[in-house]
Amino acid sequence: MLPENGRSADDLLAEIAQLKQHDLPVRGGKVTAYVYDTGRPEVGDAAARAYFEMLEVNTLDPTAFPSAVAMERQVVGAVAGLLGGGPATPGIFTSGGTESIMLAVKAARDSRPVAGRPRMVVPVTAHPAFHKAAHYLGLEVAPVPVDPATFRVVPEAVAEAITPDTVLVVVSAPSYPQGVIDPVAEVAALAAARGVLCHVDACVGGWLLPWLARAGAQVPPFDLSVPGVTSISCDLHKFGYAPKGASVVLFADPALRRAAYFASAAWPGYTVINATVQSSKSAGPLGGAWATLRALGQDGYLALARDTLAATRRLAEGIAAIPGLRVLGTPESSLVAFAGDDVDVFVLADEARRRGWFLQPQLSYAGIPANLHITVTGVTLAGVDALLEVIAVSAEAARAAGPAQVPEGLAELLEGLDLDSIDDATFAELAASVGVDLRAEGQPRMAVVNAVLDALPARTREAILIRFLSVIYG
Ligand SMILES: Cc1ncc(COP(=O)(O)O)c(C=O)c1O
Repeated sequence: MLPENGRSADDLLAEIAQLKQHDLPVRGGKVTAYVYDTGRPEVGDAAARAYFEMLEVNTLDPTAFPSAVAMERQVVGAVAGLLGGGPATPGIFTSGGTESIMLAVKAARDSRPVAGRPRMVVPVTAHPAFHKAAHYLGLEVAPVPVDPATFRVVPEAVAEAITPDTVLVVVSAPSYPQGVIDPVAEVAALAAARGVLCHVDACVGGWLLPWLARAGAQVPPFDLSVPGVTSISCDLHKFGYAPKGASVVLFADPALRRAAYFASAAWPGYTVINATVQSSKSAGPLGGAWATLRALGQDGYLALARDTLAATRRLAEGIAAIPGLRVLGTPESSLVAFAGDDVDVFVLADEARRRGWFLQPQLSYAGIPANLHITVTGVTLAGVDALLEVIAVSAEAARAAGPAQVPEGLAELLEGLDLDSIDDATFAELAASVGVDLRAEGQPRMAVVNAVLDALPARTREAILIRFLSVIYG
């Protein structure tokens, strides 16, 4: 694999272009998940140059590279200023939502010692990063239901789930699946009354909702100014439009942030002081985020929020008017999810992809039907009519094609299969035998895969997904 002789940068970039030929496009608004596009190339350019400028700076040692400390203080300060904090609000710049959540959970665990295994109360619509944090940090998750019509967590269910070993209660602003905001004030108050910390996952909404509010949207209080909220996460690589690797977690008091930190002098090498999970890390993402905030400025974010709000409203109304489709809940941010009544949404997603648009499938869970998810960004407004047209045409095609057929007996077979007893090659063969080529390049037809997964319980889905990952990385 390693070439015998070094190669030129031009040569390498040509190879990268080749490798990327089957990638979804990251610009232009036709991919309605994973990527966040301002539609302003000059902003991306400023971020890329700043990223590159900070690329080699290692934030491992803050005394060696004070530029990174200064930048982080400015970025954290900007987030605190928007989210109900002040200049002294403690925060940490992290690599993403998952790491911010991981640190909030560690802070809760280490600042609230309990007799038994620490627990956290997590709505079923909260991001799996909380399950991951629990898995890594040894906590137990107490899942709580959401209202079946509004998809917001039910405060009484949270109250009932709190036990003496509960260290943290979680709410989302908004939760990703249906883009609705949990009743933050009610839940934070009841957590505070029981002496329990409350984290607001505003990974999606933290840098969006304040601008949407200024653009005229109704946004309930959700930030650090709400009594009882003790930490909040806000991803800058989502609606901050920064390059990936940028999030901030804020804490209501410095002792909590200290509980998120880690230091070790238990070896004969350099002293280790880590604010984040990563130790050595590039300041590139920090530079990229710092530059993006400045390149857009307040007027830039407000203008993007106006466009985002207008696009979200048009999209939600337009989808509701397409026969056989229904929007789930009332989108309160810029995330729209819709289910199908006589239309298989997984087939619809494949039809849309054939037409050049990516809509994100979401499996049924906790009584919530399978649906498709759209993240509206600054660039969406320009193409919202084209998007609605594609959804309508794809829905019609999906209705005509009928639902994806799960091969007879496959779900039962998979559920009963001891996956540990087969190797990756056998797993890949099993998938191929039902027409699924796990290593296929190009545009995969995912409807059958999604239909199979949808027919399985969550535990089996997880085991299969891990196998899938293991196969594709070979
Ligand atoms: C509400 C919410 N929280 C957390 C995350 C995790 O963020 P990341 O993918 O940056 O780790 C996401 C990602 O979509 C999210 O939607």
